[in-house]
Amino acid sequence: MISVTARSPAKINLALRVGPLRGDGFHSLATVFQAIDLYDEVTAHQVDDGEITVSVTGLGAESVPANDSNLAVRAARALASRFSVTQGARLTILKRIPPAGGLAGGSTDAAATLMACDALWRTRASRTDLAEIAADLGSDVPFCLLGGTAVGVGRGELLTPALASGDYHWVLAIDSSGLSTPAVYAEIDRLRAEQHLSAKARRDATHDPAVPEEVLVALRSGEPKPLGRALSNDLGDAALSLRPRLHRVLEAGRDLGALAGQVSGSGPTCMLLARDADHALNLAVGLTTTGLCRTVQRACGPVAGARVVRD
Ligand code: C5P
Repeated sequence: MISVTARSPAKINLALRVGPLRGDGFHSLATVFQAIDLYDEVTAHQVDDGEITVSVTGLGAESVPANDSNLAVRAARALASRFSVTQGARLTILKRIPPAGGLAGGSTDAAATLMACDALWRTRASRTDLAEIAADLGSDVPFCLLGGTAVGVGRGELLTPALASGDYHWVLAIDSSGLSTPAVYAEIDRLRAEQHLSAKARRDATHDPAVPEEVLVALRSGEPKPLGRALSNDLGDAALSLRPRLHRVLEAGRDLGALAGQVSGSGPTCMLLARDADHALNLAVGLTTTGLCRTVQRACGPVAGARVVRD
């Protein structure tokens, strides 16, 4: 049987500024994405009946819908419709990225599906075609295609690669259940309405935000320490409000000597920055022994975006 496998990375947000709620239901934001070496794999198998179906295995597979609402199915349909493809595909997703973890797991499966189906169907879509389809599917999908380190504005889909040197070593504290992204955005709106956030966060709520310059300067230096000082995430307070036990995870990370720690994206995964690979190993062991999270995972970034790995 003919099949193509693509893999695509998880993302973390080194900075995430959330602006006002737009008329289309999305928040205007400014973020710095980094792709890390934690990958899902999507295999697209050729089928004769023209159907597009999906099955899911691996980490948290039971919580991922194996039906038409799966973003991977929607990605394959969008590509087929744009290029008038009549063939179908049986998609199998191997999850290593925790679903609803603030790591763009669903978005990255869509990005991998676009790459796999493009190769399977020989649609020869350009990067621009794929980026346009990706932006329609979700705010993080274009970054999952691009990879590396990039600034995202708009609702996160308008990307500019960032100048970054060096590799960064992260420890991910993965919680036992996910958080809904819309619920976390709704919570930031609620908190802002109640004015529980800082004056700066309230200002951000009324203006299109910009990425903090210090994170871009730190990335150019290639040094983890300044990057640690520059990390920020406006969604952190909202995720912590919905999942207060994450305070203890971040506290444990600090006690164990992480350079910095914060919620990744809309959470509940927490990301801790290590000095180097050995430090990351020590941090991961220390965090595991606290028993505060379901799994602890080391990851390194930046890495490339979605790629075909086997056909
Ligand atoms: O784009 P994506 O489908 O990942 O977004 C999921 C949900 O997250 C949106 O429906 C919206 O509620 C929220 N969101 C937002 N502003 C963004 C991105 C996502 O409010 N920039």
